[in-house]
Amino acid sequence: MSVSAPFTLPNGQSFRNRIAKAAMTEGLAWRDGLPTTAHEALYRRWAHGGCGLLITGNVLIDRGALERPGNVIVDGPLSADAKVAWSRWAAAATEADTQAWVQINHAGRQTQKRVNPHPKAPSAVPLALPGGQFGMPVPLTAAEIRDLIDRWATAAAVAREAGFTGVQVHAAHGYLISQFLSPLANRRDDDWGGSLENRARFLTETVKAVRAAVGSDFTLSVKLNSADFQKGGFAFDDCLVVAGWLADLGVDCLEISGGTYEQPAMMDMDGLAPREEPKQQSTRQREAYFVALARALMQAKAPPLMVTGGLRSLAAMEDAIASGLAFVGVGRPLCAEPDCVADLLAGASEELPRFEDRLAIGPGILGPASPLKLVRTLNGFAAQAWCYQQIRRIAAGGAAEKLNPFKAFLAEEREAKARA
Ligand SMILES: Cc1cc2nc3c(=O)[nH]c(=O)nc-3n(C[C@H](O)[C@H](O)[C@H](O)COP(=O)(O)O)c2cc1C
Repeated sequence: MSVSAPFTLPNGQSFRNRIAKAAMTEGLAWRDGLPTTAHEALYRRWAHGGCGLLITGNVLIDRGALERPGNVIVDGPLSADAKVAWSRWAAAATEADTQAWVQINHAGRQTQKRVNPHPKAPSAVPLALPGGQFGMPVPLTAAEIRDLIDRWATAAAVAREAGFTGVQVHAAHGYLISQFLSPLANRRDDDWGGSLENRARFLTETVKAVRAAVGSDFTLSVKLNSADFQKGGFAFDDCLVVAGWLADLGVDCLEISGGTYEQPAMMDMDGLAPREEPKQQSTRQREAYFVALARALMQAKAPPLMVTGGLRSLAAMEDAIASGLAFVGVGRPLCAEPDCVADLLAGASEELPRFEDRLAIGPGILGPASPLKLVRTLNGFAAQAWCYQQIRRIAAGGAAEKLNPFKAFLAEEREAKARA
């Protein structure tokens, strides 16, 4: 078992290796929400970059609940032209013997105010974040919940028809399904809130609807938080139970991540480390945390697993695969160096680049460890914007250049205005 060897999922889907490009929102669509030639160029580049599997950035099922302006959107039947755009995207993403899955999402209360000042969510519980970027959410009615579940199924059918080879239901990172799972964000007292079974109903019903729409011979994946890392939020014990339910429902692959906008552990992997470990732990220990987590999941009951977040060294990836994981997921290194996985697999390097360690608005009090929450939040957005800008450069056929995260932040603000 090696990360570089071909691999087949129990459902029969084969992969040229076990490294997956994790979902990364592209922000390349215009107001119509259609995939563009920039999406094609980007995914063609990534298809030739070494990964066996590409997972698209989140595709949104409601234009009133975007994760950000520039998202691809499927919120109704597609026109003939739209179907062509989707097919071209799928062809580019699968052209180098890569598998390509479409991630499907609804941002719920994590919809920015500039998209919707009152987005739909499980309950009227706003995000506790400084900066006023997010408005007071409006609770979904039971009928609206059913409509959204149908939309997930519609989007999955669109992905299959276009030529993608799988779909992923986004149930992590504090977006709508993750909000339903969290006792902090979900205060409902109907069938969709309260017990874990009720809070997970939105996810389990979505999985059933998507399965019915795509059939049993198409890969259905779910991305789930190991934990929200918030007191009273979705916890690892909940994850263990939900993973078992997803296995019973025939989910083909479960990707494990963690965190929300309020606690962005998915971007800062120190946040994922068990509390009792010293803060300055070695990279190797940090990466090994996932292996421990995956083992606990496998000892219980779970679909084939993928973990994403902070995996950079070939050695840690090999350990993860040896411990029984199906895939390892990689995100940020592919934003600036689309060939870095090919280099790793060819033995040209032993580690993927760690841009995340270098990205901050400034040192000291302006750095990522600033005592000021607003500065830490701004640093998070700036580092994210840096990745977005690099993705735009790859899509335009260029190479990564030196770029100050703060300038990237301002440039992305202009992009968002142009695409909103
Ligand atoms: C630019 C960028 C965009 C992202 N967009 C998404 C997304 O659309 N869906 C998702 O599930 N995760 C998204 N993520 C999170 C990644 O999939 C991944 O979980 C995270 O980057 C941690 O992995 P890494 O340490 O290898 O970067 C995004 C991350 C980045 C950096």
